[in-house]
Parts: sequence; C-alpha cells; structure tokens
Amino acid sequence: MEDLTLDWQERISVDYVGGMLQPTPTCEAWDQICNFQARPDDLLISTYPKAGTTWTQEIVDLIQNDGNVDKSQRAPTHIRFPFIEWIIPSIGSGLEQANAMPSPRTIKTHLPIHLLPPSFLEKNCKIIYVARNAKDNMVSYYHFQRMNKALPAPGTWEEYFESFLMGKVCWGSWHDHVKGWWKAKDQHRILYLFYEDMKKNPKHEIRKMAEFIGKDLDDKVLDKIVHQTTFDVMKQNPMANYSSIPNEIMNHSISPFMRKGTIGDWKNHFTVAQNEIFDEDYKKKMTDSSLASHFQF
Ligand code: A3P
Repeated sequence: MEDLTLDWQERISVDYVGGMLQPTPTCEAWDQICNFQARPDDLLISTYPKAGTTWTQEIVDLIQNDGNVDKSQRAPTHIRFPFIEWIIPSIGSGLEQANAMPSPRTIKTHLPIHLLPPSFLEKNCKIIYVARNAKDNMVSYYHFQRMNKALPAPGTWEEYFESFLMGKVCWGSWHDHVKGWWKAKDQHRILYLFYEDMKKNPKHEIRKMAEFIGKDLDDKVLDKIVHQTTFDVMKQNPMANYSSIPNEIMNHSISPFMRKGTIGDWKNHFTVAQNEIFDEDYKKKMTDSSLASHFQF
C-alpha cells in the first residue's frame, strides 16, 4: 500500500467508482477491495452510513463476549472491526487490517450489495444489515460530513438535501442501498434490522442478533448489553465514541459523533417544502419495493 499521509488541513478528495462517490484512496484500491477474500466464519455488519453501524458493532461485540465489558473495551471500534473499503491517510487501511486479523473476524462495510466483494456471498458469510429511515439518516449524515474531514464538506443544508436525494454522496443512493440489501435478504444469510426497532425495543432486537450469531445468552446478560449500548453509555465510552480519531480529522466540537441518537430529528431540519419534495421523490423510488411500508415518518 502506498504512503498513507495527508495534510488534514484539507478535506479528502473523492471520485466515482462503480457509479458511486468514494474517497480517492478507496477508488485507487478498488480492485483489491473487489478481490477481498472473505472467510466462511466472517460476520459482516453492513449499513448505509449513519444508520447505526457503531451501535450495532458494540452490541455484536458484547454478544460475542457474553456481555464482558472489559473485553469489548479492548480497543476503539475502528480497530476491533476492519472497515474493508476504508483507506484513510494517517489512520490506515481496513483492507490490510482485515487481511491481518485472525478468525473469527467481524467486518464492517457500507457498500451497496451490488458492489460488495463477491466472496462474502460465495462463502455464505452471515451478514447483519441495519437500515434507518431516510430522513433521519440524511440529517445524521449531513452533520457527520460537517465534522469529518475524511468525507467531502456537505455544503449548506439546502445543498446537501439535493445531493442526498440525487445519491451524490459517498456510498451513493440511500434508496438503492436499502432496497438492494432487502431484495437479497432471503437468498443469503442476512439478518435485516431497523434502527427504529432497535431504539423502541432494544432487548428484542439484541436477542435476534444473538440468535443469528448462534449465542444463547440469558436474560441478565441481555439486560447488561442493553444498558451498555444505550446512547448515553456509549457516548461516554472512549472505545465506542470515536474520540480516539485525531481531532484534525473528526472534530467533535463541530458535531459530536454520538450526536443525538433519536428518531425524528429530521423534523428540526426539513422545511415544509423540502418535506414535500422528499415525499414525492420517495414515493417514486420506493414503490417497487415491499420495504417501503417498514419506514414510518
Ligand atoms: P445521530 O447523528 O442521529 O445522532 P453510524 O454508527 O452508522 O455512523 O451511525 C451514527 C448514528 O447512530 C448517529 O446518529 C449516532 O448518534 C447514532 N447512535 C450511535 N450509538 C447509538 C446508540 N447507542 N443508540 C442510538 N443511536 C446511536
């Protein structure tokens, strides 16, 4: 891998690869990413960015470690879970990290299913996918791009609103992402979950994840995991709140990584006109999928 240094005075640059915007280092390593060799016992956590990835990672790690908090706090999230397509100057390459990691690995991706390295499906890996309603997802992504120099500057909220609807953001269209994974879920070992369900009934969703992973956890352990992965506890956890990423890359004083963790924050951002535009566009893009009825605004 080439020298991973960048002057973080500047934002990272982006290009198109596979029809989707990505940071330039990811575009340059694209062939290696496509050829990534999954192992049959890999667990993959897949999401559109800002759908609750870190939350899911923390839950999964605690499930795998029978609720042992010390073990889950062994390292920051980005070290515990290689993020395969994430190649970031001064931080490292998720691809190299995954290749060097002993099995069993739990890997993170934001790739739409049609761009996933094929070996994950060929090896029949278990995959947990989490989707979040598009409006809150958009708001969360906007604030994340404001604070994170490893992604392009979002522009104004009005500009971002348009970019998001056009899929001109990194990892592409939200609509295509959630629909693509939904369509694939019955042909592969995919557990498809929703952020909103995790928020409303965390114990129920955590139990589903444990069963899917093959862990039989008693009620006491499940309750401990629920507590340990609440927004407030995770916000204070330096191994889960991204405070270990250098401040010149992620600036939490602009917007904290653990921002609000709520359902419905879009109501504080969307104008009435934007909401009408969004709903109209949503109807057109989602009518062809049974997934549409799972999201309520
Ligand atoms: P907000 O910006 O709406 O607060 P990801 O991990 O995919 O980047 O997603 C980040 C989003 O998930 C942020 O949303 C973050 O606050 C929220 N989040 C993280 N941990 C959470 C938790 N334990 N409970 C609820 N939301 C959480």
